[in-house]
Amino acid sequence: MDTEKSEDYKLSFQDINIFINKTQILHNVCGVVHSKEVLAVMGPSGSGKTTMLNAIAGREAVKSGEITINDQRINKQLRRKIGYVLQQDLFYSNLTLWETLYFTAMLHIPEKVPKPDKLRRIDAIIETLDLEKCRKTLIGSPFTHGLSGGEKKRLSIACELLTNPDIMLLDEPTSGLDSSTAYSLMVQVKRYAEMYNKAVIVTIHQPSSQIFHMFNTLLLLADGHVAFFGKADSALTFFEEFNFVCEPHFNPADFLLELVKKDEATKEIILEYWKAKSSSNNKELSNSNNSDSLDNLEPVHGPSSINVQHNKILDPDQNKDIDKFSNGNHLSDVRWQSSFWTQLKMLTWRNFKESRSRILSKYVIGSSMFLAITTALIWFQMERSYKTIGDRMGWIFIILARWGFVPMLDAIFSFPLENTILLKERAAGSYRLSAYYLAKTISEIPLTAFVPLAFVTITYWAAGMKGVVEYIGTMLLISMSSINAQGFGFVLGASMSNFEMALTYSNAFMMISILFSGFYIQRFPPWLVWSRYLSLLHYPFAAVSILEFADTPQIPCANVTVTQFPQCGKNDTDFVTAKMILEDVQVTLPIYCYICTLIIMTILVRILGYFVLRLKTRQKHLS
Ligand SMILES: Nc1ncnc2c1ncn2[C@@H]1O[C@H](COP(=O)(O)OP(=O)(O)OP(=O)(O)O)[C@@H](O)[C@H]1O
Ligand SMILES: [Mg+2]
Repeated sequence: MDTEKSEDYKLSFQDINIFINKTQILHNVCGVVHSKEVLAVMGPSGSGKTTMLNAIAGREAVKSGEITINDQRINKQLRRKIGYVLQQDLFYSNLTLWETLYFTAMLHIPEKVPKPDKLRRIDAIIETLDLEKCRKTLIGSPFTHGLSGGEKKRLSIACELLTNPDIMLLDEPTSGLDSSTAYSLMVQVKRYAEMYNKAVIVTIHQPSSQIFHMFNTLLLLADGHVAFFGKADSALTFFEEFNFVCEPHFNPADFLLELVKKDEATKEIILEYWKAKSSSNNKELSNSNNSDSLDNLEPVHGPSSINVQHNKILDPDQNKDIDKFSNGNHLSDVRWQSSFWTQLKMLTWRNFKESRSRILSKYVIGSSMFLAITTALIWFQMERSYKTIGDRMGWIFIILARWGFVPMLDAIFSFPLENTILLKERAAGSYRLSAYYLAKTISEIPLTAFVPLAFVTITYWAAGMKGVVEYIGTMLLISMSSINAQGFGFVLGASMSNFEMALTYSNAFMMISILFSGFYIQRFPPWLVWSRYLSLLHYPFAAVSILEFADTPQIPCANVTVTQFPQCGKNDTDFVTAKMILEDVQVTLPIYCYICTLIIMTILVRILGYFVLRLKTRQKHLS
């Protein structure tokens, strides 16, 4: 296999100190990895392995210390050579494995590469990672079963392989896998490093001894301190020097982990010994005029004699496709690999697929139909007279409240997962936030507007409301109100620091909207009359009410009681007019005022959503 075109890389980190919330997590951590090598970062849970990878990937602020690639201080441009597979596999649940890879390929492989080549690259990676049998399987969520844990992990790796990074960071790729799957995965990783000249850093909890012997170098962490860094096969010899001897046939990884977890005294001894040893190494090196202590570690390209049965990546013939692409398709140094339009197109495609199954889920359709039938039965063929004015207003209000609550809650419920994926993908430089937000808006608006259609149609005609023109107007206003409420839900979801808070505030917000809409309390205290304008339900309620009641014939007061129409008791009124009926529910302006306000509000809320998201994504770091 031809690896000539892949440059050699050396990633080193020296004296890294990291503080999170004023607690020091990493203490003077050092290490180096070269192309063709696998550096394993081992240590007990909480020892700082993920923090270390986050720092290299630029997702955690480094207080002091230096990270370099080929002796050049790391910067945004150099970081594009790094691919990072997170500990947690985060995907959209309603896409298949192939669709997920397709999305990544279209966004991450440079625009100049023809589409058929991108598709072939996907196929080659699917084959390499043995994912053929689940190519069409949905990713799934905790509620809908899909890919297995191991398949998801391999998909995470596949997504990174598509971008052909020169340095790969893998956080716990084997956790949750059975030992044979973990072994076969690590074999693939190791071969990938060797054959494609990649440098790999992998954090791992408790590798089997087979996996342990695959590592070239080892960084052992204990409470954020280095307990050992060097060739993996010399780790045991190092600890033997101060009488910590690993029994033959004992898994060296288990031995090392138990050692650093043993007790405080042992840990102290180990850390002190390592400190003394590394500083004496440094002294020797500085005496020999070499200031870079890590350069002492020559590339250690072994052990490569792993006997693997199902190792497709070994067979150059099977992987000629991958070779063809991996040599030519390195990420270019531009900030985005794909144009704004490609990003918008792909994000709209993905978001439509994802939100369609959520917004139009069988549960939503089922419950809507049930409610539609119930509503239709209750309001069935109302007599069109002054006697049913209150009932018809009730119908308008209940429909608006229902189709306000549902999209608002949907936006809040879907926000946490979407946001986590957004942060992950933005951290990997996948797309512009503006493309994401625009795509989200474009893909969700038709769905949100479409969902109330059947409900409103059934109940409008069943209730015997006004006529065809008014029906179309009502339909459009209810759709617009749903879109508006969804926008509010998004702003609430994005601006609150957690899900519970967003849910609580959205309930309060909706209650206030209901109270101030004008339907429930008609006689507001005079100093609170303005509050109706705060209700997002007031505008569509007013507009639909005007459509329904504007040409109600005059009602003679002689025919009705004051309880029914309190207007009759005032100023010797002889008739109740349509204007009076509408004023009674705080509807005092012409219809276009309400429609225009609703449209402007919907647009402004969408724009506000973008800025809130921009602010939030800037503040947040991926943990
Ligand atoms: N935001 C935070 N505030 C306080 N402590 C934090 C924060 N984030 C991480 N830590 C702490 O930093 C330490 C290192 O965390 P890290 O995730 O790097 O550990 P790890 O070695 O990857 O563990 P695991 O093997 O369980 O994944 C942990 O003790 C963790 O509690
Ligand atoms: Mg971790």
